[in-house]
Amino acid sequence: MTEAVWPRHIAVIMDGNGRWAKTRKLARTRGHAEGVESVRTVTRTCARQKIDQLTLYAFSEENWKRPKREVAVLMRLLRRFLVGERDEIMENNIRLASVGRIHRLPDDVRRELEITRELSANNDGMVLNLALSYGGRQEIVDAVQRIAQRVLAGEFDPEDIDEDTITAHLYQPDMPPPDLLIRTAGEMRVSNFLLWQISYTELHVTPTCWPEFREEHLEAAVAEYNRRVRKFGGLVKKSAPR
Ligand code: IPE
Ligand code: IPE
Ligand code: MG
Repeated sequence: MTEAVWPRHIAVIMDGNGRWAKTRKLARTRGHAEGVESVRTVTRTCARQKIDQLTLYAFSEENWKRPKREVAVLMRLLRRFLVGERDEIMENNIRLASVGRIHRLPDDVRRELEITRELSANNDGMVLNLALSYGGRQEIVDAVQRIAQRVLAGEFDPEDIDEDTITAHLYQPDMPPPDLLIRTAGEMRVSNFLLWQISYTELHVTPTCWPEFREEHLEAAVAEYNRRVRKFGGLVKKSAPR
């Protein structure tokens, strides 16, 4: 695995916690709790491989539709993660960031998110980006609203709007597009994740459920990525996959 080129930006749809629990006759929430260990492992491995950014889909805008109790457990796990991993984040020189409608999160979660974000703001290693209350369509809606306001304020004309304008108004304008998107638990869909950003991202879907996802699964995804030929609509270039 040492020769493999690691992508600059890996994004992950962490799916299958419920199914993992169900096959073991456990409560769905046990699956979410187990999934935290996978988050730790993947974050540590990616930081060690010195990738620029890891974006984890932790909670979608649509996930608010789940039973109150399940949402409460997810929020509690998130808060615990933000507090419990603070030292690890600092030791690994990781900068914590987030995308999504963060204002919808409970106050205590937002507070811990803000503390870890501020504390790690000057770290210059990998960016760990958590997608929370995130939806790709909602992100584009929010961007369009802000662009429309600026047009109304006379800051620029509608005909000046181009792809860079849209990108500049996303939640995280400086985010490089993901090179590799991993989805666990086998579903062949993107479930409203990073719709604008994944136009040319390589996709890797594994049947492994998120609570079981470990270093070897990540390495398998990177190995597959290394076998891909990225063309971006042009002609094949004989260069490293990134
Ligand atoms: C992913 O696991 C975690 C979140 C979406 C928050 P799921 O809870 O969706 O697990 P499945 O898809 O029901 O197995
Ligand atoms: C996607 O998983 C969201 C996260 C992993 C946070 P879901 O389980 O919500 O997606 P669907 O409902 O199967 O499309
Ligand atoms: Mg799911």
